[in-house]
Amino acid sequence: MKIAIIGCGRFCTYFVPLFKAHPSVEKVYVCDLKRERAEEYSKKFGVDIIDSFEEALASDKINSIAIFTQRTLHGKMVIAALKAGKHVYSAVPCTTDIDEIIEIKELVEKTRLTYSMGETGYYRAPAIFCRREFKKGTFGKFAYAEAQYNHDIRNMELSFQSSGGDEWRKYAGVPPMFYPTHSTSMVLSTMPGVYAKKVVAFGYKESPRTDIYGVDGQNLYNNPFSNTAMLLELSNGGIARISENRCVGWRAPETYISQFYGTEGGYEFSVARHHLTKWNEEDIKNNEPYTRVVMTDVTKELQPPEIYDAIVEDYQAAAQRLADGWGYGLSYPVQPTQRLPKEFDGILNAHNGTHHFLIDDFCRAYDTGKLSPTNIWEAARWNIPGLTAHQSALKGGQTMDVIDLGNPPEDWEVLDYEK
Ligand SMILES: NC(=O)c1ccc[n+]([C@@H]2O[C@H](COP(=O)([O-])OP(=O)(O)OC[C@H]3O[C@@H](n4cnc5c(N)ncnc54)[C@H](O)[C@@H]3O)[C@@H](O)[C@H]2O)c1
Repeated sequence: MKIAIIGCGRFCTYFVPLFKAHPSVEKVYVCDLKRERAEEYSKKFGVDIIDSFEEALASDKINSIAIFTQRTLHGKMVIAALKAGKHVYSAVPCTTDIDEIIEIKELVEKTRLTYSMGETGYYRAPAIFCRREFKKGTFGKFAYAEAQYNHDIRNMELSFQSSGGDEWRKYAGVPPMFYPTHSTSMVLSTMPGVYAKKVVAFGYKESPRTDIYGVDGQNLYNNPFSNTAMLLELSNGGIARISENRCVGWRAPETYISQFYGTEGGYEFSVARHHLTKWNEEDIKNNEPYTRVVMTDVTKELQPPEIYDAIVEDYQAAAQRLADGWGYGLSYPVQPTQRLPKEFDGILNAHNGTHHFLIDDFCRAYDTGKLSPTNIWEAARWNIPGLTAHQSALKGGQTMDVIDLGNPPEDWEVLDYEK
């Protein structure tokens, strides 16, 4: 692979070393509209600069593009890169426009190029755990789940200032549901082939940040909502509640499944501890009128050893550290780290041990011609419900149908994320 990384802002710093280290990658270029940013990255990581996105698309020295530009720019850039015959890795979200998602899907289907969306939620410990237990049948038939991504705007100011400058509030007011994939992916990826059929959503308009959210020109999207919650009717008959909160008194843990219930068992998470429940088989066998559940604390598998030990020793102190973001750079026991290339050892990881998997998935999909687990069909199922939810919320909670782009072609195998 010879890859050009477009957008040397705040996020991309984690990924240049991973692309550079991956055994499938021969050459890495960096590029930014702000030349000084590309120069800083070039010096810091010892990689060459390519002058512009357009030059990267035209170059036959480059066969892949990684997009780390601002969130509303991804769609058009992904489409241009696919049209130029390049494989594409894109930071989330896929796009903020449903027609663009459809076009990306059609281009990928036609060209068979790799598209992989870097969705960190897919590799977060609770998503992996619920995916595994659902597959094993622990939960029985899926009934109901809740997930959320809480990221208060006061902790996002620097991110938006990075490219928004003095005008950053206009970008920061982006509708929360334009960025739904962290939480939707955690629930939907547990159930292969399941998608949202209908959505109803409500938006919170009472945010104190009237400098950012409102319909008087505060932002580029005429968006009044700082928080939006949606209820989804899923194709398997289950229900999911997904919330995207940008104005709440909460810092971390930030992206998590709080509840995942099936007819036979459940999973719950609160602040630090994770629990699994299952109907008590003895009670069922003995025809007990009040069947109990077996409650198992599964925290040990879902927290790194140092965090688990701290929770056992002093829960309150550990909870405080977790609220401060502890675990951001660590790997989790349930994550299949054994499958990662040894070249990644010691390279900075983030978003709770997820980054290494995302770059490895893209490179392995490129190498093998298989689909990345976070391919465009999955990305569409995680992204489109949010875009429709924003419309529902603007209409005061109108129930709306969610477009589904279907499953990947049957002759296109998806990589096994565990191996
Ligand atoms: N958990 C996650 O998955 C996660 C976390 C953080 C950020 N992100 C995503 O990563 C992306 C980047 O975030 P960031 O905080 O680094 O943003 P940023 O604003 O700091 O950086 C974006 C950079 O892209 C550059 N750029 C824009 N258009 C360009 C073009 N045509 N050619 C070359 N360069 C161009 C800008 O000049 C800027 O330097 C966003 O889409 C964000 O949604 C994802």
